[in-house]
Amino acid sequence: MAKKISILAFGGSLRKGSYNKALLRAALEMVPGDAQMEAFDIAAIPSFNQDLEKEQPQVVKDFKAKIKAADAVLIVTPEYNYSIPGFLKNAIDSASRPYGDNAFDGKPVAFMGASIGMLGTARAQYHLRQCCVWLNMYPMNQPEVMVPFAQEKVDENGRVTDAKTREKIKELLEALVVWARKFKKD
Ligand SMILES: Cc1cc2nc3c(=O)[nH]c(=O)nc-3n(C[C@H](O)[C@H](O)[C@H](O)COP(=O)(O)O)c2cc1C
Repeated sequence: MAKKISILAFGGSLRKGSYNKALLRAALEMVPGDAQMEAFDIAAIPSFNQDLEKEQPQVVKDFKAKIKAADAVLIVTPEYNYSIPGFLKNAIDSASRPYGDNAFDGKPVAFMGASIGMLGTARAQYHLRQCCVWLNMYPMNQPEVMVPFAQEKVDENGRVTDAKTREKIKELLEALVVWARKFKKD
């Protein structure tokens, strides 16, 4: 039997009731049988300072090690001012450095996101795709999971209750496993 695909997921927002964290939790409940997924909490990653990039804090070392060990990455992004939030970009920048030790190099990646607006993080996700060029990641094209009006799809306990959204997340995970297998060497 083929080895399981390991996925490292991160993102969501820092706020307690984050709809994006709800998406991430829903994804953890729906991991396909031939895969395993772990979420990494990026909240503790300090602001990136290039003067200190060779003495990275333990949390960044841990984050990089988890990314490198994974077959694929799943990034869950809110949309802030038509782009990805600063703390998420900061985590990505931190794990991409120092030059020559980019943890994301060659990784397949998928995205999803939820917003309270009508475009469901489309603009943020396309900015994220742009970052993947220099990161040398391999973004999966479809399905796109952009969840609009998230306040109507997540209940007060932080559970994604909308059936279509849950189905889309499931489809995304299944497609990511197939996508990641194309890059897996062992
Ligand atoms: C600083 C800031 C900027 C925002 N900009 C956008 C935006 O550009 N597009 C959008 O659809 N929603 C925007 N929103 C609203 C977010 O969609 C909403 O706050 C959402 O709940 C954030 O995700 P979260 O629930 O995971 O925290 C913004 C919110 C904040 C705090």
